[in-house]
Amino acid sequence: MKLFLDTANLDEIQEANRWGVLRGITTNPTLVAKEGRDFLPLVKEICSIVEGDVSIETVGNDTDNLVRQGHEIAQIADNAIVKLSTTPNGLAACRRLSDEGIKINMTLCFTAAQAILCAEAGAYIVSPFLGRLDDISTDSLQVLSEICEIYAVQDYDTQVLAASLRHPMHVIEAARMGAHISTMPFKVFEMLVKHPLTDAGHKRFMDDWEEAKSHLGELLPSMQEA
Ligand code: E4P
Repeated sequence: MKLFLDTANLDEIQEANRWGVLRGITTNPTLVAKEGRDFLPLVKEICSIVEGDVSIETVGNDTDNLVRQGHEIAQIADNAIVKLSTTPNGLAACRRLSDEGIKINMTLCFTAAQAILCAEAGAYIVSPFLGRLDDISTDSLQVLSEICEIYAVQDYDTQVLAASLRHPMHVIEAARMGAHISTMPFKVFEMLVKHPLTDAGHKRFMDDWEEAKSHLGELLPSMQEA
């Protein structure tokens, strides 16, 4: 399962990229607005930092205009993916753009029925939102599991991107169910690696090493500089 960051913040993107595990980015109008920067240079810079897919969301809800935005977003960079809402007009735009070979991420998907429509409209990615379903007391993992099962049975090419993730259990369950991608805020990305026993164990190893170092004889040169 590929790990994406759900952010438009360059510092977060650079830091996660440094770890060698970042495979793509999802943005949305809220995340872009939060950065307070000019839209086009910002999304261009994000596309240049990350090798994988960068989803850039359309705005408004007029099919012809969504198609025009889709053409323009696809021109931003080779890895720019067009994000459309799962509405009737969004589906119509998805069909038209997908038929031209433009890659679409259908966002704001909350049911298996919507996910079937997205796949049938030729989407490259479908994004079920887990956290927002949990917020309204709906079992988001049940919905994700239905979508993964249906997509496997129907042999759809559309990738399932688990979105609106709030904690590592969402990521683990998405991987277990066979989602192709998980996207998460940087805070959740950091939670994947952090463990108090890792930190305490590392400290203990380092303390023991420092204490014994002087009588351990010849060390590797790089260890002397550590
Ligand atoms: C995904 O593409 C969305 O940008 C995102 O996951 C929304 O998450 P939120 O519910 O935390 O805003």
